[in-house]
Amino acid sequence: MAKIEDLIAQIPDERLKKAIGAEVRELKKNKKFGLVFEEHLPETVRLPKLPVKEGELVAKKCETGNELWRVKTIRKGIATLERAVEGYPLPSETGIEVSVAELVVVRSFGDPIYPVLVPVDRVARGGPDKPWHMVINADNFHALQLLLYAYEGKVDAIYIDPPYNSGARDWKYNNDYVDKNDPWQHSKWLSMLQKRLKLAKRLLNPTDSVLIVTIDEKEFQRLALLLEQLFPGCTVQMVTTVINPKGTARYNEFSRVEEYLFFVFIGAAKLQSTGSDMLTERDYAIETDVRWRGLARTGRKGLRSNNPGSWYPIFLRKSDFSFHSIGDAIGKDVDESTVKVPQGTIAIWPPNKDGHEYSWSTVPETLRAIHAKGGFKTGRVNPAKNSFPFYYLSTGAFEKIEKGEIVVTGRGPANELLIEFADGAKSAAPRSVWNQVAHDAGSHGTSLLQRLIPGRKFPFPKSLYAVEDALRFFIQRKSNALVLDFFGGSGTTTHAVARLNKQDGGTRRSLLITNNEVSSDEAVSLRQKGFEPGDPEWDSLGIFEQVTRPRIIAAITGKTPEGDAISGDYKFNDESPIADGLEENVEFFSLDFLDPDEVARGDAFKAIVPILWMMAGCCGEREDSKGTTPWFIPKHSPFAVLIQEKQFRAFREKLAERKDIEWVFIITDSEENFGQMRRTLGRKYECVQLYKSYLENFRINTQDALNG
Ligand SMILES: C[S@@+](CC[C@H](N)C(=O)[O-])C[C@H]1O[C@@H](n2cnc3c(N)ncnc32)[C@H](O)[C@@H]1O
Repeated sequence: MAKIEDLIAQIPDERLKKAIGAEVRELKKNKKFGLVFEEHLPETVRLPKLPVKEGELVAKKCETGNELWRVKTIRKGIATLERAVEGYPLPSETGIEVSVAELVVVRSFGDPIYPVLVPVDRVARGGPDKPWHMVINADNFHALQLLLYAYEGKVDAIYIDPPYNSGARDWKYNNDYVDKNDPWQHSKWLSMLQKRLKLAKRLLNPTDSVLIVTIDEKEFQRLALLLEQLFPGCTVQMVTTVINPKGTARYNEFSRVEEYLFFVFIGAAKLQSTGSDMLTERDYAIETDVRWRGLARTGRKGLRSNNPGSWYPIFLRKSDFSFHSIGDAIGKDVDESTVKVPQGTIAIWPPNKDGHEYSWSTVPETLRAIHAKGGFKTGRVNPAKNSFPFYYLSTGAFEKIEKGEIVVTGRGPANELLIEFADGAKSAAPRSVWNQVAHDAGSHGTSLLQRLIPGRKFPFPKSLYAVEDALRFFIQRKSNALVLDFFGGSGTTTHAVARLNKQDGGTRRSLLITNNEVSSDEAVSLRQKGFEPGDPEWDSLGIFEQVTRPRIIAAITGKTPEGDAISGDYKFNDESPIADGLEENVEFFSLDFLDPDEVARGDAFKAIVPILWMMAGCCGEREDSKGTTPWFIPKHSPFAVLIQEKQFRAFREKLAERKDIEWVFIITDSEENFGQMRRTLGRKYECVQLYKSYLENFRINTQDALNG
């Protein structure tokens, strides 16, 4: 193309030059640059819950693949079919008769479908103030479209571990496994991933978020190009990570020990140092901590009642909050107001949080000695927030000073030591090659999963700590981050987010989507036994039912599905017994599809309530409603629905009683009425119009939605 443009530039006739230039510009629009792959038949979806009617596109339940039929007539439970190939009947295959029970309705690209979230299970250990994680059994292509209604531009981090396209029937395209004999193995994979990434991109916060995609040697080059194309202008960086130090032997090849992580930095996304360089096991955070430690204790062991000798005041000068002196410990039952405060000073006592009194880390005599050596300092004070942080140097730090590992470079304004590590190489900047024992997928993925759900198989779960570490770089300072994984597998991402919350008291939440696929071997054996997808015998063996749901429940409760306490401890960060569980709330859903014409109104309202709860941030225990009252204001969630628009005035009065409401859904078919009600309610609320045909509000698979 560049050569043609150079040649055009040399055409002396201006009119001809312009005309050819315009034609070439048109041609360029249709020419693909960069990664070129085939368009495939768009993905279809089987909807077993929808009734088979005349005119419907259907598949035979027993057939895998994309063989489609159109129902001509139905008589006494028998459907007459003609084969449908992109809408054209094949003359040789018309008039085939099949029992309706053996057919399943199929929707293809562009036929709108109406998704609902059907609650299937929940585990609540986080208390009323923590939002809920959502785990959805669905094809991610549909679930992502539904999520767009709630979270467009709101997701802080996406972590995905898609099928690696190993050629070993590890994923499906149009209901059929793709393997190495498929001539379109790579382009099908790219088509599949591109469609999902386009939707995912719209979910990510454009001003500050990250996309993390793991991959191995089979597709990493193609993935790199795809990401470059989909995220122009963003930094895309590849990290090599050792996940199996023993190596996977390959004939006449180097033994594989690694895989790759692609990080796409969106907007102003910043890499937040975690204290690890990821290449070595050195923990800079701990070393830094040895230098200056917080004086205030936390946790049960830090309670005043357990350390009466460490409950004493530190006096600061009123004028500038500089250090004055260290007071004496007072007994458990002595009232602090009886302590004499030196003139011109204020007394700072150990912190009191959530009604509990804590202590300082040392007794006063020790702190005075540390202070005398320059090992005590006051941090940034904020009297308005009653925040007076103190720091001290531990015995370990003084030992390092003596050994010369830490050098004293001077004294600060309060006479505290100014210190620095001797070898100068203190940068914890994470490197682009990761080699962490914690990331061994065998020990901390597969074996950990065996502890949580003994006897259940799942191929290649990630190391829990590897997922934690990758996310920590971007969300450690976002304590209420929203994290999405749409190839959820065994649920490692939800587990990792729950652990990140445990480490700092955060309220991050995860949205995890995964399908209920059975392995290709299991599918063969189930079919031989006469079972089809949708039969309980088949579905109970799917990944969501067998692995994802029980694994996440086990992680939260600390108990295996059999009810036994899980053995062993978490390692590396935040070591604690796995059996303690995690204080989080999780609700599990299946994505289902309904026909607006077939569903009674009350059932349709009930069916969309989980979507409204999701839009309002999954806060508070979810409540059901059939929508038969003038409005629905759940007790524990920050949203309200006006069902009968005539009752607007009374509804407003009710709203005023609930200060926590943030979202208001108004059911009306009139844009004008909605506009008026929205203006009356003011900017305080996020107002959303809903049509009376409830299911239509969340249609997906439309041409518009799919074109992005
Ligand atoms: C490689 S695994 C992810 C493993 C996960 N990171 C873990 O640690 O357990 C990919 C998962 O995505 C699921 N999956 C594949 N295609 C999907 C689709 N279209 N929609 C939803 N899930 C899908 C597969 O069933 C599989 O469980």
